[in-house]
Amino acid sequence: MNLPSMKDAKVRTDKKSRVELFEIDKKYQNVGNGKKYYIKTYGCQMNVHDSENIKALLEQMSFKETDNMEDADLILLNTCAIRENAHNKVFGFLGRVKHLKEQKPDIISGICGCMAQEESVVNEIKDKYKWVDIVFGTHNIYNLPKILNDSIIKNDQEIEVFSTEGDIIENIPVKRDSSIKAWINIMYGCDKFCTYCIVPYTRGKQRSREPKYIIDEVNDLVKKGYQEVTLLGQNVNAYGKDLDINYTMSDLLRDVALTNIPRVRFVTSHPWDFNDSMIKVISEYDNIMPYIHLPLQSGSDRILKLMGRRYNKKDYLELFDKLKKSIPNVSITTDIIVGFPGETEEDFKETLDVVNTCKYDSAYTFIFSPRIGTPAEKMKDDVTLEEKNKRLHILNEIVNKYALEANKKYLGKVVPVLIEGNSEKGDMLMGYTDTMKLVNVIGDKKYIGHIVDVEIIDVKTWSMDGKIKN
Ligand code: 5AD
Ligand code: SF4
Repeated sequence: MNLPSMKDAKVRTDKKSRVELFEIDKKYQNVGNGKKYYIKTYGCQMNVHDSENIKALLEQMSFKETDNMEDADLILLNTCAIRENAHNKVFGFLGRVKHLKEQKPDIISGICGCMAQEESVVNEIKDKYKWVDIVFGTHNIYNLPKILNDSIIKNDQEIEVFSTEGDIIENIPVKRDSSIKAWINIMYGCDKFCTYCIVPYTRGKQRSREPKYIIDEVNDLVKKGYQEVTLLGQNVNAYGKDLDINYTMSDLLRDVALTNIPRVRFVTSHPWDFNDSMIKVISEYDNIMPYIHLPLQSGSDRILKLMGRRYNKKDYLELFDKLKKSIPNVSITTDIIVGFPGETEEDFKETLDVVNTCKYDSAYTFIFSPRIGTPAEKMKDDVTLEEKNKRLHILNEIVNKYALEANKKYLGKVVPVLIEGNSEKGDMLMGYTDTMKLVNVIGDKKYIGHIVDVEIIDVKTWSMDGKIKN
């Protein structure tokens, strides 16, 4: 049994990550014969992509996927730890799994992802959820075949969570959810340690993948006809800084663009590492999409300092302005936290001021949620929940107003949309513009998987409607 420790997870060493190539041990290849798995994924794209790896690992063990939990022999929850409500959802769902297991005791149940990296969560599972069969962390995914096999053989709870990252494992198989767009990890972990954030503990030290593995992966996707890749990292602008090969995010963006994949995206950017050479590359290559997610978190210098964000309001606004001026037609979205410990009315007004200046295309807004073991958890928080809710409401009204305003500029225009599939709305199709606007589209299904010209005929706050121009 390997239990996580927040204290160990915090440590950063100079040790360089080595690269190891994954290969499944033959003895695990038939473990899942005749069995089905069901996986439920919470949280960010990084987790969605981890689930794509987990699915492929399970299929190498001969498990088959089912999207009906009642039908499954193995149920896995890939969890998120970023805020309290993500936690609550997982523990709520565990109740349903327990109920199923009471009826079918042979079901194997498991928890992985960011919550599995949290000391407090794993202790709770060990003490109060003994019926959960396996727990494995974000650094242990490649070891799933062994963990699962051990749990089956020993018929006991198997917990394997390393507190710190190990080598970078390449060659982990992947079963992609889409044959049109793909997620690609370019780096793991984060070293920024924003004071509210659990990610540097649950995902470990920042480690960049070597460029050749990333470029090979993109080339392979191009061959398979993929239209879009999204380069993933907690903080992609810092890509390469840990590699000592004088190769940075702007080099990677250029090389990925040169594969001629039709669309390149990247998330998430930290304003601190966004340099001019990146801006230049984004504006130079037509297949790097004019869309940037640039988390603000707060507009108050005092709060930004308490958050450990390493920029102030002026720096942020200067960068924002530069991006708008240098990248034609760029759309910029953001993340904002309200109710950080000690946030005053004045601080909140500073945030609103930035929002009113930047007029974001869209924003994800959150109420501060204390995460166990982070510095902000211990900060004195005298803002009432009622006040926090009020601020969130005020902020959302303004954010939504600008989102609608930004969308209105598209009305009547013809824009390129990558058609991804059927829309939830009746018999329409759906896809995204280069600027990451969701469009429900009237048109023939034969266009799925293609980038087509779409005339925008109606706009709302969160989406638009359009029809394919022939
Ligand atoms: N409380 C509220 N929001 C948080 N985020 C990260 N940690 C917390 C927290 N403890 C938000 C940030 C980040 C986004 C992914 O989640 O805005 O950019
Ligand atoms: Fe968390 Fe800050 Fe790292 Fe983003 S940059 S993952 S908010 S610590």
